[in-house]
Amino acid sequence: MNSFVHKHFADILAFYAEAGVDVALDEVAVDRFAESAAAASARRPSAAVMADAPRGQGTDSPTAGTRPAPSRPAPSVGAGHAPSGAGMQVSAQPPDVAVMAARDAAHTAASLDELRGMLEAFDGCPLKRTATRLVFADGNPQAKVMFVGEAPGRDEDVQGLPFVGRSGRLLDLMLAAIGLDRTTAYIANVIPWRPPGNRTPTPQETAICLPFIRRQVELANPDVLVCLGGPSAQALLGITDGITKARGRIVPYDTGSRTIKAIATFHPAYLLRTPLGKRYAWRDLLAVEALLKGEAAG
Ligand code: URA
Repeated sequence: MNSFVHKHFADILAFYAEAGVDVALDEVAVDRFAESAAAASARRPSAAVMADAPRGQGTDSPTAGTRPAPSRPAPSVGAGHAPSGAGMQVSAQPPDVAVMAARDAAHTAASLDELRGMLEAFDGCPLKRTATRLVFADGNPQAKVMFVGEAPGRDEDVQGLPFVGRSGRLLDLMLAAIGLDRTTAYIANVIPWRPPGNRTPTPQETAICLPFIRRQVELANPDVLVCLGGPSAQALLGITDGITKARGRIVPYDTGSRTIKAIATFHPAYLLRTPLGKRYAWRDLLAVEALLKGEAAG
């Protein structure tokens, strides 16, 4: 490659990196505009079909003349990725079907190991396509306290463990502040696959993953659940207030087997950006410590 071409590619790569593109899905670019135009025209009934349509199946029928959109093979995972099960094809199920499948699967897991195996085999979440591997949990599953974040980032995706990057290092300090570490706390995320480019998970992706994390909490059976950040608190505790308002409240959480105490606090990534928030997180950590000592009312 001559130096001009090399520079050209380097510029394009730099542009992609700045735009947040950090995973390669396919060798060849996919024209999504052409794809949706083709799907739309496939849905439009042709004149011949309309002329032949029996009564009651004209344009006023919501399904009149519909044909299934051409199915597109699931994209293969691009070079440089080593997903669990290389060459894996993840099915593109409609989200509600995937949520039902997740609920059915999660319920039948009798242990955390079984649940992990189920997630490894589960093909209903599109995030699995782009993630390098499943990020299931870290720490001690027998611990009395479980911390749940939102979704893995780049470091977690590489190592397959939650909270091992910058925010993980802060989480470790937060744990240490109340005498905990990864031998006395259990750590997981609502979403066990990294969203590409660390984008916010969609509501559908969260809904698909929710039955699994709920079952994970039930099987780990902690006394105290700590939600790290608003998305975790919204997903698990149903809290609709922003995290600034919702943090620090001790609320009941029904694991499915029993009711435990739960609390939301700021996400370590937020605290890295907003150090002033640490004074509130400290109060929340003291509340967690008191809960673990059986000193706080819920
Ligand atoms: N942020 C999260 O919410 N979870 C992780 O595992 C890492 C960063």
